Amino acid sequence: MKVMDSAFAQSFVKFADDGWNRGYHERNGGNLSYRIPTEEVEAVKEDLDFSRPFTDIGTDVPALAGEYFMVTGSGKYFSNILAAPRDNCCIIEVDSEGKKYRILWGLEKGGKPTSELPTHLMNHEVKKLATNGKSRLIYHCHPVNIIAMSCVLPLTDRDFTLALWQNMTECAIVFGEGVGVIPWMVCGGREIAVETAKKIAKYNVVVWAQHGLFCAGADFDETFGLAHTVEKSAEIYVKIYSMTGGKAPRQVITNENLKELQGLAEFFGAKISPEFMD
Ligand code: 13P
Ligand code: ZN
Repeated sequence: MKVMDSAFAQSFVKFADDGWNRGYHERNGGNLSYRIPTEEVEAVKEDLDFSRPFTDIGTDVPALAGEYFMVTGSGKYFSNILAAPRDNCCIIEVDSEGKKYRILWGLEKGGKPTSELPTHLMNHEVKKLATNGKSRLIYHCHPVNIIAMSCVLPLTDRDFTLALWQNMTECAIVFGEGVGVIPWMVCGGREIAVETAKKIAKYNVVVWAQHGLFCAGADFDETFGLAHTVEKSAEIYVKIYSMTGGKAPRQVITNENLKELQGLAEFFGAKISPEFMD
C-alpha cells in the first residue's frame, strides 16, 4: 500500500488540517509526530526508501530504537499539509541505538523533520515507557489564549491547572493529571526537550511560556481533543478577565466541586489528581 492510502497517514493529514483551521498554526508554527505501530509500517513498506543515510537526532532515545514516526517537516506550513503531504511531512526510522534517524518517505522537495524533533522523541520515549506503549502522538501548537495566559499567570503547574479547571466542568476530567508549565526557554534543542520530558512524564499537557502547548495522546482524536479542550478553557479564562477588568470572577468551580466530580471522572476511566484540590 502507498503511504497516503493508509488510515494513519490520512488521520495525520486531517489532524494537521484541523489544527490549521482552528488557528493554532501561523506560518510554520507547530509540529506533529506519530509513533507508527509495526503492522502499520509493514503495510506501507513497499512505499518506503531505505537508502538514505542516518543523521544525528541531537539527543539519545534508546527506548525508541528501531521505531518509525510520521513527522511534520521543519519550516513547513500546516496550511499546506492536506494538499501536499509528501512535500510537508516525512516518515523517519530511528537507528538501533536511538541516536540517529533517516528519512524513508516524504519531504520530496527537500527539508528536514521538525526542529523540535529532540522534544518530540524524548516525549515519545517517556510516554511509551509510562503508558506501556499506548501513547503514540506528540503535538505542538501555538494557540492564542494559552500563550496570553502564560504572559499573566505565575508559571507554576498549580496556577495553570487550577485556572484551566475552574471555569469549564469537563476540563478536570479531560486532563485530570493537570498541566505542566515550563518557563520561557530557547526552543528547538536538547535543553528544552529535557525539561519538557520531565513534565510530560507526569502530565499529558505541557505549556511552553510565551510559545505554546505540547500534548501527548494515544490516538489522533484524543490528542487533538486534548489541545482543543485546553485552549478552549484558556479562551474562557481570557474572556472572563477581560469582562471583569482583571477582577476574579464571581463564581468558579471550587475545590469542593472538583472532589464531587471525581465519581464522574471515574465513569470516564479518568481521575482528577488530588494534588491540586487542597
Ligand atoms: P518547525 O517548523 O521546525 O517544526 O518549528 C516550528 C515551531 O513551532 C518551533 O517551535
Ligand atoms: Zn513552536
